[in-house]
Amino acid sequence: MTTHALLLLPGDGIGIETIAEVERLIAFFNARSNAGKFVVERDLVGGSAYDAHGVSITDAAMAKALKADAVMFGAVGGPKWDKVPYEHRPEAGLLRLRKDLDLFANLRPAICYPALADASSLKRELVEGLDIMILRELTGGVYFGEPKELVTLENGDRRAVDTQIYTSREIERIAKAAFDLARKRGNKVHSAEKRNVMKTGVLWNQVVTEVHKSYAPDVTLEHILADNCAMQLIRNPKQFDVIVTDNLFGDVLSDEAAMMTGSLGMLPSASLGAPDAKTGKRKALYEPVHGSAPDIAGKGLANPIATIASFGMALRYSCDMGKEADLIDKAISAVLDKGLRTGDIMQPGMTQVGTSDMGKAIEAELRALTV
Ligand code: IPM
Ligand code: MG
Repeated sequence: MTTHALLLLPGDGIGIETIAEVERLIAFFNARSNAGKFVVERDLVGGSAYDAHGVSITDAAMAKALKADAVMFGAVGGPKWDKVPYEHRPEAGLLRLRKDLDLFANLRPAICYPALADASSLKRELVEGLDIMILRELTGGVYFGEPKELVTLENGDRRAVDTQIYTSREIERIAKAAFDLARKRGNKVHSAEKRNVMKTGVLWNQVVTEVHKSYAPDVTLEHILADNCAMQLIRNPKQFDVIVTDNLFGDVLSDEAAMMTGSLGMLPSASLGAPDAKTGKRKALYEPVHGSAPDIAGKGLANPIATIASFGMALRYSCDMGKEADLIDKAISAVLDKGLRTGDIMQPGMTQVGTSDMGKAIEAELRALTV
């Protein structure tokens, strides 16, 4: 039987509680599924790694991540670490994982479960049945461009610089990934940039156009300015299928898309590298789009659905367990249909549950679906 090596990095805050619910499902599959067994390692990342080792991720944890078939990541950060040196801030651990594993393709699906259409801040008819995929470039752009500095000038003014850089090769590989994704979905790609202001936007637009012509003329491509994209997402989100965009615009647009699904607590993500030329395997990290939510951390209130759905994506993209991934999606949907809600998606007439009761309910649905 195939074994899948998972590295669990719960991190900080509610990451610890939500990854615990993934462990529940790992135990469930290890006990029942014939499709594969999971071998699990754990390590620290973010503030918890800083407290233990003085860095946001150790070289030893990085080595485990490089070896794993998939990394399951919780969340990092919190006010406790607001004053640590910038290079050791909790987020630096996540950024190092993305960069060193070369996880350039970040898939952020925004799906509105029918039961949650009224939990969205948009009207039901705008979001009901919504199924879009934001494909965010994750290893380039302003997140990593140099120089990146905050200096004090001779006259006493302070000056900060971030640098937005993209090469044609970086844009080409994310564009190809977007067209590949679209072919399995609604066959439409919107490419979002700011070519009216930024040189990187001009290049982005050129390269996506070239890749479309040579690689995917069968897919519909539309170019859209990123600010207009933000507006159109609110006006009429269902016009989109795949949105491909850079690291920073993708960060912003995916939070926006998350709210359409009812809560940031609903949105999973997969960060993928290129397939290995020999084995076809790709490095991968799965994480909820939400953060560590320090205000509710440790109280058992967090919504574990985004993290559980991220585990579903790991099954689909790293473990060749598409059937089991579909079951997870069905189980989540069923639990919501039954009216169970964590606080973030609570509505009148529903039953409010905590993190572990939500996890248990999803496990119970899985059990019912697999008998
Ligand atoms: C995300 C987060 C991260 C990002 C933070 C935690 C560094 O907001 O994954 O969207 O900005 O990429
Ligand atoms: Mg973000």
